[in-house]
Amino acid sequence: MIGRANGRPISITGLGWHVPERVLTNDELAEWVDTSDEWITTRTGIRERRIAAPEEAMTDLALPAARQALEQAGVDPADVDLIVVATVTPDSTFPTTSALLADLLGSPAAAAYDLLAGCTGFVYALAQAYGMVAAGLSQRALVVGGDVLSKIVNWRDRSTCVLFGDGAGAVVLEFVDQGGFLGFELGADGAGGIHLTLPAGGSRLPASAETIAAEQHFIHQNGREVYKFATRVLVSSAEQVLAACDLTVDDVDVYIPHQANLRIIDHAVRKLGIPPERVVTNVDRYGNTSSGSIPLALADAAADGRLQPGKLVLMTGMGAGLTWGSGVMEWTEEMAA
Ligand code: ACO
Repeated sequence: MIGRANGRPISITGLGWHVPERVLTNDELAEWVDTSDEWITTRTGIRERRIAAPEEAMTDLALPAARQALEQAGVDPADVDLIVVATVTPDSTFPTTSALLADLLGSPAAAAYDLLAGCTGFVYALAQAYGMVAAGLSQRALVVGGDVLSKIVNWRDRSTCVLFGDGAGAVVLEFVDQGGFLGFELGADGAGGIHLTLPAGGSRLPASAETIAAEQHFIHQNGREVYKFATRVLVSSAEQVLAACDLTVDDVDVYIPHQANLRIIDHAVRKLGIPPERVVTNVDRYGNTSSGSIPLALADAAADGRLQPGKLVLMTGMGAGLTWGSGVMEWTEEMAA
């Protein structure tokens, strides 16, 4: 799916984020599995990640992020009419995290649903909410992206456990005077889905003693195949969405790629020809937080002053599905305060 926005200015008017307190360093990980800080930083750029406490679930990360975003937007939770939570680690399959969040926020008038699109979830959810607002079905949409991957990582598998972390971000989407979203490109390749899976617990392979014994309730990944896929789509999706919006890479002021791995990001930056100072990275501090990664990076860019009115922001995510997606927007006044 690809397309320009319909010209009605809809933008992010509030932004919030939250990560668990607990920092897990590479050296600590090296005490659990046969790895080293040197291996992890060289291959991924990750130095540390945040890990949820045993009692913390997705809603516990989403709630403070959502409250911060609503406060910044000056939106009363009671006036939110749409909540989309992009996550692969909801508190439970049902009730959904979005429904629980609506209750905790005090948003009884909101339609609320969870969205599953792997690490691309936040970009998919942005496009969903954009469409709802553009169509006039929603006036004030809350989009949350986040994951608690530490709960589905096999902490005995060094090839995956070093990559992931927990965190969430939230944004409010509303009509604005000018600027905002310019276009989206979203895609999926189910044939490649086999390379990044949570094999059991669904209707194909329900939970059983066998699936537990075979460790099929954890993330399984063919790292090399995912690497090839990620480096390819990070470039192609960005190029396609920019072309659809009659823009070029030179127009991009702030580039926010999914924070999977610094090598993947560096490859895309080189291929696209984006100057390094325009690229936002935080994978060194958070690891791969899946749907949390782009909103957390947005929050970093806001904090360091890079998101100013009129700045062109390009976001691209990719992940399980396999899925990918880009969104391009002109940052607006509302968020500058
Ligand atoms: N520490 C030390 N050694 C390790 C570790 C580790 N944590 N993990 C694997 N190794 C070993 C392997 O066993 C292998 O050893 P061998 O040669 O004796 O067999 C060796 O390191 C090389 O393994 P490779 O898998 O070939 O390593 P590679 O250079 O491909 O790097 C990595 C692995 C970092 C996972 C890379 O493939 C990658 O980044 N893939 C993308 C994965 C990704 O980002 N997934 C996120 C989810 S999807 C998304 O967000 C896009």
